[in-house]
Amino acid sequence: MDARIVVLAGDGIGPEVTAEAEKVLTAVGQKFGHTFTFDQQLMGGRAIDELGTSLPDATVEAAKTADAVLLGAVGGPKWDNPNAADRPERGLLAIRKALNLFANLRPVKLHPQLIAASAIKEEVLAGVDLLVVRELTGGAYFGPRKEAGADGDEAYDTMLYTTPEIERVVRLSAEAAMGRSKKLTSVDKANVLASSRLWRRVTVEVLKEYPELEVEHVLVDAMAMHLIRRPADFDVVVSENLFGDILTDEASMLAGSMGMLPSASLGDLMNNHNLPLGLYEPIHGSAPDIAGHSIANPLAAILSSAMLLRHSLGLEKEAAAIEAAVDSVLNEGVRTMDIAHTGTETVGTVVMGDLVVQALGR
Ligand code: IPM
Ligand code: MG
Repeated sequence: MDARIVVLAGDGIGPEVTAEAEKVLTAVGQKFGHTFTFDQQLMGGRAIDELGTSLPDATVEAAKTADAVLLGAVGGPKWDNPNAADRPERGLLAIRKALNLFANLRPVKLHPQLIAASAIKEEVLAGVDLLVVRELTGGAYFGPRKEAGADGDEAYDTMLYTTPEIERVVRLSAEAAMGRSKKLTSVDKANVLASSRLWRRVTVEVLKEYPELEVEHVLVDAMAMHLIRRPADFDVVVSENLFGDILTDEASMLAGSMGMLPSASLGDLMNNHNLPLGLYEPIHGSAPDIAGHSIANPLAAILSSAMLLRHSLGLEKEAAAIEAAVDSVLNEGVRTMDIAHTGTETVGTVVMGDLVVQALGR
């Protein structure tokens, strides 16, 4: 297969981790007879510096016609001025919207080798295997808002949802749950928020189409607690945009480190292979404090490239090969700094990528 992958390396550690993911994709391509071409495009802070906008039109055009998009991370202190007209994060939100990527899949699976790296007790972590589906193009991120500005003293955001927006992400989550352990948890704040009451009503309605599913509706505050107290009881979890953002940072602690977690954002656009055009990114940020030192963990980006192969190119065997290679490197006791503990060997970003490539070759 030939595939064109748009790479939005972004800022901070973004370029360091996407370079390792590209290396691994190239190696997997060589092993299985595929040719992946990488088309580097600008987004985020560097795009603001070079082209004056966080999301250039050329980037959107390239992404729309690609087979998949691989993203590093955006943002950094250089662009943190709250009064700036444009911000790196705006580019990220705008490309999610431009590609209509309404479902963000964030699998949280604990690699047993990393139990010691988690802040949570081993007995609580045993069996954790979650798929959080975060709605990605609605809610407070995109609703009507008012900025207070320099002299204003009033500001607001609006958590706005429509029935079709809820239906499509709940349906996608239900389908995912059908392919897993048939358990689906919908998270809302229906005791307080009007948008959550709509969410709950539409969810109940859509899930009538899936009588086989075991369904639970949980309030977001309680969910924050359950995720730490009994995370292994959940399987697929679906929630609106802002709740999903918060819960997935929390859930990442179940996997030992944010540096381990990949994500896939999917919508309704199809690529040349008649599969969903998706954007794949580690859930961690641009980590400006460690950028440029080649110590960042590239495994989340590498595991994101495995999700890319699976969801946008239909290459399941190849995706599984990357996941197995990552497992094998972890089994050898090799770690980047963020997941290191007594008895492991600490390596940098590039060496970690090289080791995954070597493991693929075995
Ligand atoms: C994420 C990030 C982004 C978000 C930021 C960088 C805008 O936290 O992808 O989870 O809030 O969606
Ligand atoms: Mg986040």
